[in-house]
Amino acid sequence: MSTYAIKEEPFTGLAETVSAVIRSRKTVFADELLPDPVAPEIIEEILTDAIWAPTHKLTQPWHFVVADSRELRADFGRFMLDYYQKKYTIDQFPPSRYEDTLSYPLNGGTIVFLMMRRSERADVLPEWEELAAVSCAAQNIWLSCTARGLGTYWDTASATIAFGERFITSDLEQCLGCFFIGYYEEARVQRNRKRKPLYTKLTWIK
Ligand SMILES: Cc1cc2nc3c(=O)[nH]c(=O)nc-3n(C[C@H](O)[C@H](O)[C@H](O)COP(=O)(O)O)c2cc1C
Repeated sequence: MSTYAIKEEPFTGLAETVSAVIRSRKTVFADELLPDPVAPEIIEEILTDAIWAPTHKLTQPWHFVVADSRELRADFGRFMLDYYQKKYTIDQFPPSRYEDTLSYPLNGGTIVFLMMRRSERADVLPEWEELAAVSCAAQNIWLSCTARGLGTYWDTASATIAFGERFITSDLEQCLGCFFIGYYEEARVQRNRKRKPLYTKLTWIK
């Protein structure tokens, strides 16, 4: 018998299921989401999946802000409009785009801001490890949504991050953007998703 015998799968079919979820995960933009609300219990299940991400020294450096108030969402739209008006010339950001900008955060499912809250003992780990842990949590959110038939994407636009900065509670906290989570129609979100073949990304030294 080979010493490298593959261990029996602990859960039959699980590897195929996990691979299918990973490989079918995709970006679904806010304006592609249906207006149907996502139940708070489902959002909590998704965020519970998020917090099972790996975390060096168990610092668990994530925090989530669910922007569930209509008023806050309207405020987000007004903030973006103001932000882009200041940042761009009228030619780059013409009045024809104002209405879409204002309504962008109003319709796109549930908005979850992703924050990195570093440990009080920030010296225990380099920042990149904390960012890596929160990124693992972000991937868990995305995969959990995919498995539940929900669309989502990670919005890290500078306006989104600037808006999310209002949720910062200490010098050790940073906004890493937000997820819009909602239902969508598969047929209307056909993507030509591509990845370079594995061999272009793999060095295998034997
Ligand atoms: C850290 C990070 C930040 C991202 N920020 C944005 C963003 O601000 N706007 C956007 O359209 N997509 C954003 N994306 C999504 C990527 O554009 C998307 O993953 C990529 O186009 C591949 O498509 P897929 O997710 O369908 O595989 C982000 C992805 C990551 C990992």
